[in-house]
Amino acid sequence: MTKKVLVLPGDGIGPEIIAQATKVLDYLNASLSLGLEFTRALVGGASIDEAGVPLTDQTLDLAKQSDAILLGAVGGTKWDTLDMAIRPEKGLLGLRSGLELFANLRPAILYPQLAEASSLRPEIVAGLDILIVRELTGGIYFGQPRGIQPLEDGSREGFNTYRYSESEIRRIGRIAFESARKRNNQVCSVDKANVLEVTVLWREVMDQLAPEYPDVTLSHMYVDNAAMQLVKAPKQFDVIVTGNMFGDILSDEAAMLTGSIGMLPSASLNSSGQGMYEPCHGSAPDIAGQDLANPLATILSAAMMLRYSLQQEEAAQRIEKAVSKVLDQGYRTADIVGSGDITKVGTNAMGDAVLAALKSA
Ligand code: IPM
Ligand code: MG
Repeated sequence: MTKKVLVLPGDGIGPEIIAQATKVLDYLNASLSLGLEFTRALVGGASIDEAGVPLTDQTLDLAKQSDAILLGAVGGTKWDTLDMAIRPEKGLLGLRSGLELFANLRPAILYPQLAEASSLRPEIVAGLDILIVRELTGGIYFGQPRGIQPLEDGSREGFNTYRYSESEIRRIGRIAFESARKRNNQVCSVDKANVLEVTVLWREVMDQLAPEYPDVTLSHMYVDNAAMQLVKAPKQFDVIVTGNMFGDILSDEAAMLTGSIGMLPSASLNSSGQGMYEPCHGSAPDIAGQDLANPLATILSAAMMLRYSLQQEEAAQRIEKAVSKVLDQGYRTADIVGSGDITKVGTNAMGDAVLAALKSA
């Protein structure tokens, strides 16, 4: 049976890193007869330049008809002065909300080979394996009303609304509890329940769910403390579940624990298992087109895609092993160079190294 994959390279380093991931996918598709059918489209700034909007109806329709979407990155200084409503980022947010991809899984795993690349001491991060479950289609990112409006005194005010319904909290909570069952059975729910009512409700709903998962231990933490604990003692965490904005911030922080945000993949899923897969990092316009970007987060996102939306666990594991092997072999892009016996490579050579590791396995 064929499965449809929509490839959206996007902007900045997007096309370069996507090229490495598709190299790997093309090889596995042929050698393991996975039956994947790829289509490509534009999103973000690339789509603005071509069609005037960051996400066209056609691309959204294509995405809806796909089993999975592999996305590079969106955005860049070129489009930063545009009106908020048609910025490249809106393309990404439109895909997330249009497909109801409410569950964002961001694993932060420290590869032992990269312990030195972390800014924290090796004993603090060695063996780190955290899963951040971020709510992705609600909260302050999407809450209405929002805007910038004039005040009576002639100045202006900006406002956004932070809201979550019980059902939105419950469905992301379930994803967290179920994910914890496949890991170390601990969920830490992160909120700001000492100040924000919306997160008082968040905490209540998490507590209501807990008895359904007696094998999982639920704890709660305020977001400011969580930010601190992540750098103080990150290994205390197994699964962290939180809202859209806190998840955005904490996942960047967790990424740095692992040495580089260039290593972090992500999956965004809806309730039918359809998913969008993208690296956690942005489009890095400053290094775009220079063969400098680390393609591993995108390659690892392709592995997550094979696992979660395409039911190809074996292929997913083969990619993950190949990535670990190239790190063993000492290949490093600029963001993860440490000292010692390493070979500094560019984007393309890193993709080739992963491909070679796959072929030799
Ligand atoms: C992320 C990014 C996006 C977000 C931006 C590009 C809209 O930072 O995926 O973490 O804020 O969600
Ligand atoms: Mg972010």
